[in-house]
Amino acid sequence: MSIPSRVQIIDVGPRDGLQNEKTPVPAEVKVALVHRLQDAGLQEIEVTSFVSPKWVPQMADNVDVMAGIERKAGVRYSVLTPNLQGYEAAVKTRPDEIVVFGSASEAFSRKNINCSIAESIERFAPVVEAALAAGIRVRGAMSCTVGCPYEGEVAPRQVAYLAGLMKGIGVQRVDVADTIGVGTPYKVQRAIEATLQHYGIDAVSGHFHDTYGQALSNTLAALELGVWNFQASVSGLGGCPYAKGATGNVATEDLVFMLQGMGIETGIDLDKLVDAGAYISDFLGRKPNSRVAVAVLNKRAG
Ligand code: HMG
Ligand code: MG
Repeated sequence: MSIPSRVQIIDVGPRDGLQNEKTPVPAEVKVALVHRLQDAGLQEIEVTSFVSPKWVPQMADNVDVMAGIERKAGVRYSVLTPNLQGYEAAVKTRPDEIVVFGSASEAFSRKNINCSIAESIERFAPVVEAALAAGIRVRGAMSCTVGCPYEGEVAPRQVAYLAGLMKGIGVQRVDVADTIGVGTPYKVQRAIEATLQHYGIDAVSGHFHDTYGQALSNTLAALELGVWNFQASVSGLGGCPYAKGATGNVATEDLVFMLQGMGIETGIDLDKLVDAGAYISDFLGRKPNSRVAVAVLNKRAG
C-alpha cells in the first residue's frame, strides 16, 4: 500500500478540544473559532455535542453554537449524539453528520456514556436509522481501541467486535480512537487492521490523542496502511472528561506541517490555521499546545 497523496482532516477542536475546559467558553468564541477553521480550509469540523449538560457543562450551548455559524459551502459540520434525546435536539440544528460514540472497552463505555457496549449499540441503532432516513451522514467514534484508562491494554479483537456492531446498525464510517494516547505505531496498526475486517479503508479515520507524544508516529503508521482521514484538534486542545489525565488530540498544526512536508495535500493554509489556534489559545490565556504553532509564531515575532 502506498502512502495516500491527499488527506482529509476533521478538526475536532471545538468539541473534543473544548469539552473539558473548566472555564466556560462563550458560544461566540466557539463560533469565531469555527469560522477561523473554515477560513483556514478545514472542510470538516466537529462543532459540539448533544450530551447531558450535567455530564459535560461546556457543551450546554450546543444549539447557540450551531445557530451562530455562517456555513461555508463544501464544509461538513458534525455533532455528537449519544442517544435519541441528543439526536432530536441536534437534528433541529441541521448537522451534516452525526456521531455516535462507543467504546472497545466495557469499563470506559460505562464511565463515559453510562451503559454497556451492547446497550450503547441498542441506543445508537434508532439514532442511526433516523439520521440516515433524514439524509444525515453517520460516523461512529470507537474509543479505547488500544488502551483504556480503567482496563489497560485493549485487544484488537475487541476493536473488531465493536466495528462489527457499528457496521451492523448502519454506521457509515468509523474513527479508530486512541483516547488516552498510549498507542504506539504497531499497536495502532493492529487496531486499524481489526477495523478493516468490517470497513473499507476509505471509511476509517484516525483519532489519536497525543498524551504520550505518539500521535504523529501513529499517524504515519496509519498512513502506511492507506488511511487518509484523520482527526486533530487545533492548538492541541482537549481531552475527555472521563479519561483522567488524557490530553488533547494531535495538534492540527503539527499534523498539517508533517503532511505538507511529505508532499501530501490537505487543502489547509497553515498560516491561517496557526492564527485560528492563536485566537483560541489567547482566549484561554495560554500558549498553543502545538510545537509547529509555537515555532511559526516565534518566527513571525522575528
Ligand atoms: P444517563 O444519565 O444514562 O441518561 O446519561 P438517562 O437517559 O438516564 O437520562 C438522565 C438525565 O440525562 C435526564 O435528565 C435526561 O434528560 C438527560 P434529568 O431528568 O435527570 O434532568 N439526558 C440528556 N440531556 C441532554 N442531552 C442528551 C441526554 N440524554 C439524557 N443527549 C448520557 C447518558 C450519554 C446522556 C450521559 O452519560 C452523557 O451525557 N455522557 C457524556 C458523554 C460525553 O460527552 N463524553 C465525552 C465525549 S466522547 C469522547 O470525548 C471520546 C471521543 O473523542 C473519541 C476518543 O477520543 O475516544 C469521541
Ligand atoms: Mg477524543
